Amino acid sequence: MKAVVLSDWGGPENFFVQDVPKPTIKADEVLVQVKAFGVNPADFKTRTGTAPYAKGYTHPIILGWDMAGEVVEAGSDVTTFKPGDAVYGMVNFPEPGQAYAEYVAAPAAHLALKPATLSFEEAAAAPLAVLTAWQALTEHGQLKAGEKVLIQAASGGVGHLGVQLAKALGAHVIGTTSGKNADFVKSLGADEVIDYTQMKVDEVLNDVDLVFDTAGADTIFDSARVLKPNGRLISIAYGAMDKVLAIRPDIRAERILVHTSGDDLRTINQLIDDGKLKINVSRVLPASQMAEAHQSLESRRTTGKIVLTF
Ligand SMILES: NC(=O)c1ccc[n+]([C@@H]2O[C@H](COP(=O)([O-])OP(=O)(O)OC[C@H]3O[C@@H](n4cnc5c(N)ncnc54)[C@H](OP(=O)(O)O)[C@@H]3O)[C@@H](O)[C@H]2O)c1
Repeated sequence: MKAVVLSDWGGPENFFVQDVPKPTIKADEVLVQVKAFGVNPADFKTRTGTAPYAKGYTHPIILGWDMAGEVVEAGSDVTTFKPGDAVYGMVNFPEPGQAYAEYVAAPAAHLALKPATLSFEEAAAAPLAVLTAWQALTEHGQLKAGEKVLIQAASGGVGHLGVQLAKALGAHVIGTTSGKNADFVKSLGADEVIDYTQMKVDEVLNDVDLVFDTAGADTIFDSARVLKPNGRLISIAYGAMDKVLAIRPDIRAERILVHTSGDDLRTINQLIDDGKLKINVSRVLPASQMAEAHQSLESRRTTGKIVLTF
């Protein structure tokens, strides 16, 4: 089979499309013929070796966790999927998922059936980002209907899904983005959009119940300032929460890491089927242009998601 192989730590010039052996499956896994696969900032942080979980990898590496495709073989213990099923999922995160390939061996527990309304490209774009947004808002953020939530970087891969999930949960949603993406964020259902290039959120907001900060170090302290006492701050891009709590000791601040879950994807499928969640794919590239995909992601200026196909 063909795969995008990373020859060494460093820049995206280290990606090569190569022939490699097709993976074999364990009893609890299925073999998926990949129709499309997604990229995330975690991929370039692993490519450069800077992600903490990159330490366990040895080259040559097949990166990638997000994929959608068709089951072609099911392990002897698998009862949930059969050959011919269209599936999608985030495979083995943060261990190697090896999704930049024509075939992936995936634990059945990490997958869900692909909603019929999603293309394979849309499904491949979703898993890591949508699981992150879902787990941040529900499991960690405990978002309730009627609450006010601020989503920092609302036009990004995670943020654009966070806006829609928060709306589906009945919240009043405020999103930050630059002016060029303001209409996009409004179209996702945001009640208010703040252009962060024109104003600081702590100058125009207060009494927020929950901030989901996907933007990182530049925004986290403003995120903390807009919260009401006992408000919750969930970050996926900044870790030094002791510094945040030093300026706002009266809030709960947590840095989270997404975990794989076929069950969460099945819950999210219902929202997709109900038309409450759309996956924005801004670019579909051939696998041979993985370097371009990584360069775009590293610019931090992409909207929605990038996916690739062989
Ligand atoms: N801990 C976890 O489990 C976890 C999971 C997923 C992602 N992450 C991390 O979370 C971050 C976001 O991931 P992602 O996939 O959503 O990234 P992404 O798609 O690359 O984010 C790009 C978006 O960020 C916006 N942006 C950049 N700086 C901003 C700022 N200061 N204020 C508001 N918006 C800003 C950009 O909008 P403009 O062009 O309009 O500025 C762009 O649309 C990354 O650092 C990623 O590694 C962590």
